[in-house]
Amino acid sequence: MRIAAVGDIHFAEDTRGTLRPHWSALHECADVFLLCGDLTNLGTPAQARALAEELDAVRVPVVAVLGNHDYHAGSPEAVRAALQDVGVTVLEGEHTTLELDGRTLGIAGCKGFGGGFAGACGHAFGEPEMKEFMYVTERAAGALDNAGADLAIHGHEHSGAQKGITPRGISVRNVAMPLIRRPFAIFTLDSARPAQFRESAPAAAGAPGA
Ligand SMILES: [Fe+2]
Repeated sequence: MRIAAVGDIHFAEDTRGTLRPHWSALHECADVFLLCGDLTNLGTPAQARALAEELDAVRVPVVAVLGNHDYHAGSPEAVRAALQDVGVTVLEGEHTTLELDGRTLGIAGCKGFGGGFAGACGHAFGEPEMKEFMYVTERAAGALDNAGADLAIHGHEHSGAQKGITPRGISVRNVAMPLIRRPFAIFTLDSARPAQFRESAPAAAGAPGA
């Protein structure tokens, strides 16, 4: 099972056409495409429509989460709708399953939020503003280790670490496009031991926007 993934595309009207050539051939090296937030630069409906036109070239199932940039214009519903119009499944605290070549892939997704990580995080203690902030974080951050997964993929950290691991041992990979400097990364999962995955780059790797 081959999973292509990228985050932090920060698509805008003036980047129209830069990704379509890469994405139109994605089916040759991947079975599914995951979009990991900050898909638009400012979250305007026009940017979302421009990205949707680009995604229309993808010939495998596409599953996305939004990022904080996709909320900036106050229209996350419009971003979500534009993506759904071209067949993208958008998850926010939701999950979906895909049947790919006789195998089932389960995907859970959420936007995420600030607040830190276990051992170096804020706490819902003290002022009401702090409690409200951390409640949002805690609702999303505990799900991964509580429920389990074979692989966690995220964006947002443009200059962060590319590899990590959760306290309970789940592998974490950062696919922010400014970090990976290619139109997507590929993770090949062994159906018998999916947590033992292999990472590779697309054959015709470009570096859009890098
Ligand atoms: Fe970003």
